[in-house]
Amino acid sequence: MTSHEIRRTFLDYFTEHEHRLVASSPLVLPRDPTLLFANAGMNQFKDIFTGKDKRSYVRATTSQKCLRVSGKHNDLEMVGRTPRHHTFFEMLGNFSFGDYFKEEAVVFAWELLTEVFELPADRLWATVFGGTDELAADDEAYALWRDRIGLPEERILRLGEKDNFWRMGDTGPCGPCSELHFDMGPEWTSVEGTSNPETDERRFMEIWNLVFMQFNQRKDGDLVELPAKSVDTGMGLERLCAVLQGKYSNFDTDLFRPLIERTASLAGVTTGASDEIDFSLRVIADHARALCFLVADGVVPANDRRGYVLRRLLRRAIRHGRKLGFDAPFLHEVTPAVIDSLADIYPELLAAREAILEVGRREEQRFAETLTTGLSLFEEALSGLKDTGEDRPRVLPGDELFRLYDTYGFPLELARDVAEEHGVQLDEAGFEERMAQQRSRAQASWKGAAGNAEDEVYVELAKSHETEFLGYEQTRVVDAPVLALLRDGKLVERLEEGSEGEIVLAATPFYAESGGQLADTGFLAGPDGRAAVLDVRRPAGQLLIHRARMEQGSLAKGDAVLAEIDVIRRDAIRRNHTATHLLHAALREVVGTHVKQAGSLVAPDRLRFDFSHFSGLSDRAKADIESLVNRIVLEDLPVQTEESDIEQALSQGAMALFGEKYGDRVRLIRVGDFSLELCGGTHTTRTGEIGLIKLTDEHGIASGVRRVEAVSGASSLERFRQVHAIVRALEENLSVPGERVIEEVERRLGQLKEAQRALERQRLQAVQERLKQKAADPERVAGIGLLAERVDGLSPQEMRELADNLRGKLRSGVVVLGRAAGGKVSLLVAVTADLKQRVPARDLVKELGPMIGGGGGGRADMAEAGGKNEAGLDDALAAARGAVERFLEANTG
Ligand code: SER
Repeated sequence: MTSHEIRRTFLDYFTEHEHRLVASSPLVLPRDPTLLFANAGMNQFKDIFTGKDKRSYVRATTSQKCLRVSGKHNDLEMVGRTPRHHTFFEMLGNFSFGDYFKEEAVVFAWELLTEVFELPADRLWATVFGGTDELAADDEAYALWRDRIGLPEERILRLGEKDNFWRMGDTGPCGPCSELHFDMGPEWTSVEGTSNPETDERRFMEIWNLVFMQFNQRKDGDLVELPAKSVDTGMGLERLCAVLQGKYSNFDTDLFRPLIERTASLAGVTTGASDEIDFSLRVIADHARALCFLVADGVVPANDRRGYVLRRLLRRAIRHGRKLGFDAPFLHEVTPAVIDSLADIYPELLAAREAILEVGRREEQRFAETLTTGLSLFEEALSGLKDTGEDRPRVLPGDELFRLYDTYGFPLELARDVAEEHGVQLDEAGFEERMAQQRSRAQASWKGAAGNAEDEVYVELAKSHETEFLGYEQTRVVDAPVLALLRDGKLVERLEEGSEGEIVLAATPFYAESGGQLADTGFLAGPDGRAAVLDVRRPAGQLLIHRARMEQGSLAKGDAVLAEIDVIRRDAIRRNHTATHLLHAALREVVGTHVKQAGSLVAPDRLRFDFSHFSGLSDRAKADIESLVNRIVLEDLPVQTEESDIEQALSQGAMALFGEKYGDRVRLIRVGDFSLELCGGTHTTRTGEIGLIKLTDEHGIASGVRRVEAVSGASSLERFRQVHAIVRALEENLSVPGERVIEEVERRLGQLKEAQRALERQRLQAVQERLKQKAADPERVAGIGLLAERVDGLSPQEMRELADNLRGKLRSGVVVLGRAAGGKVSLLVAVTADLKQRVPARDLVKELGPMIGGGGGGRADMAEAGGKNEAGLDDALAAARGAVERFLEANTG
């Protein structure tokens, strides 16, 4: 049976038993921020198990795309080393949502395996949950296997929580489970004494996990009963294929074999020739699959979160490619094999074909650079390590490791691999220490002007001081007490006129830079003086710091000040911030929901939004986005702020940033039905206030990341004015109406080019004329005529023709012409027939050629040299006279 038939048979069996066939969810689950990637078939049904969501069906079956790279369920380092570790895999499953429970689940599984797939019943074992102090043993499942199925007791094992209590993660639905294991045969026995699924993982392979969903694991640690008892089963397709195709290793099934063969033939290696080669081939096959499915689901290589997982996988695959001898990008030759074999089941692969090939190629090129420099330096560092004596392994210091990482981007996991090959250990603790130092340095730098000591001051201050932020409702706060003042990072009692320092208030309307929105500016006025606020930030806890310059008088601790922001600037910022949300939503609508925010800047005069996407936006897409956001502006929708808890916000589909830390209570910004985002920034109250939103630019800033820039409100008007003024000036200068400006410019440029060409032709003609006249009365060298001239602008052919022509005019003589164009320099020598013996053109050009940085050759009557040294051309022409003289003296003829 092929893998296609096996998958089909599984799904058919369950649809025949009234299960709804549901499509796999994407690897990136749209609404579950607790998961990096889908890791089990039940993920997309999580809310149904917990009762939050309802569907029209109570039974389902799926073939779910899963990715496990780290954490609870996998370890990337193992992939390729063992017969059954994978990153990407397909999980076949059947589900009951409060419908059938243990008995049917057990019967379905047994019948499918033994009657439909015809696996020998005597090679199947079952495990059940044996219970713990808190959790009851699953005697029911035990009895079902024994009495309902007739499995002998010696092939039913009771195991602990680790093996037989399944959890999706730290939270979520969970329950006791029962696993089916297949006996690969006594020849695979790897333990002495009792060999069974608990003791011998080499001989016994787990193939199917039946989870009896009964509880929900809550964040607070409580295990609560689910509203209804449910079933979630999962069987790795790769393992099932191995068993049914009679293979020991998943990599020998038809899911992997074609990829491995393809890679081997590209690399010119033979499978089975060595463990190392096979290991690399397996890694590449596994990672190529992951690459295809990740890119198809919108992930692009990046330095954090999902993008980083993809990057790591790619880099690991590329490195194994190098081991096999590839020195140029090769993944794009392997991935089509994945796409071709699986696109009929996962059509998203086909849609993403170009992106998949491109991502692989680009990352390989980038990584090649890192590798080439990094790897040789790393190996140099390793071989430079002195032997420490017999038993102690050599250790590469953390400092050195960090330097390679920091300067050349040489990744740690690679360093580990290479070090292992060299039998060297890495001082990873030292490395981590340096990393931590660097991180805290980066955090402490306030626009380049701070150190660690300063940071501590704030941390200390934040313990006893808090600033209340009132800026959502107010633009000015009256009588805000000054809690503390700092100068050069030290606490002071007073800031004097002309000095710059930092001021902590008990309450403030000033927004501190965060989430891309710039800080407010404005002023603070106290009883004895006034300060301009230049910047605001939140260095620690609830502490807000105003960086300010004393413009007049002084401010002292304890003063009550009037704090007022620049309202016009803030209004412009608010417009741009709300416009950013609209743009984000419009991008997802027009370009696709794989668009993820990768950064943003909200300034008073412009906004910038970075997002993940593979290619530039078409003019059409840009126009659609612009029209859409402006339509929302014209609809003048209310912009509402709500407070919510994070879980509820996300379940409503609010857009949030990965990697961003949100507290339990979050602020939600809702624009009608159009946009819902977690955000701490300041916004307009209705969309109409934003005014016209105009996209001003769109370009790529990194591989897979695009940036759009836009303006709104007064800046749009300003922009419009500028453009209008330019058009007006063009109209006036060209004396045509606006709509004909482009045509007119093109026409005039054409004319200009034509005129330039004519002029150039004339100039050349003049040069040629002058030379022809000169030929009538040439310079004389020992009685013969010499013409040595520079004729830049002639084509090589024109120069040859000219030389020929001039030679004809000299009765007896030598012509040397030189030209330089676009960094190329050439020399040409022509001599009249009577001088061929005495001044052979070939010899003369050989003598002059080196001066223009080149060699040359040709015939005795005409020869050429080419070089790159333009500076030497005039010298070469000047040297012609002396050279001709010498030739004539040497060969008196
Ligand atoms: N959720 C279980 C697993 O992943 C069964 O589908 O093993």
